[in-house]
Amino acid sequence: MRKLNFIMAIVLFASFIFSAQAQEYSQVGKLDKKMQNALNEQVNAELYAAYLYLSMAAYFESKSLVGAAHWMRLQAKEETEHAMKFFDYVHNRGDRVILTSIKAPPSNWESPLAVFQDAYLHEQKVTSMINRLAKLASQEEDAATHNFLQFFIEEQVEELASAKLVVDRLTMIGGSAPGLLMIDRQLGEREEE
Ligand code: FEO
Repeated sequence: MRKLNFIMAIVLFASFIFSAQAQEYSQVGKLDKKMQNALNEQVNAELYAAYLYLSMAAYFESKSLVGAAHWMRLQAKEETEHAMKFFDYVHNRGDRVILTSIKAPPSNWESPLAVFQDAYLHEQKVTSMINRLAKLASQEEDAATHNFLQFFIEEQVEELASAKLVVDRLTMIGGSAPGLLMIDRQLGEREEE
């Protein structure tokens, strides 16, 4: 009898845990349609960023600036990881991502400085997209998405700062070849995060 009571207690406890968890999930629930579309667009934007940085890596490789090419390859990899974070998040919320075509990035620039200026501009654009997503999450009272976006809000601060640092240094050296090779060596030291 005591054994039976013990089993009953376990069953009751397990069903309590299960129902509490189910309630928690139902409170998070599926994404609002507007939010879902915006997150879907962000997957595309992050994949475009990966494509853009890969194109920049190809440019630098064609100029034998292997350090800058390495920097851009790592950046492209990071952008793919960002896309996958959004992809997984949408699916974890019980919705699905619809992939759309990725436009072709530019393939030529007039100088290494122009490449990093473009990268900096692109990060500014992504930052405003992330800020818009955060604003939408607040309007929709979607705390889970708002919380999810915190990683990207912090990440954008870093990404803007690192692109601007390179723009500033390349501006500083003007057209100096030794200066460019020095910066290229520094860019080649970037490590995977
Ligand atoms: Fe994923 Fe560089 O923004």
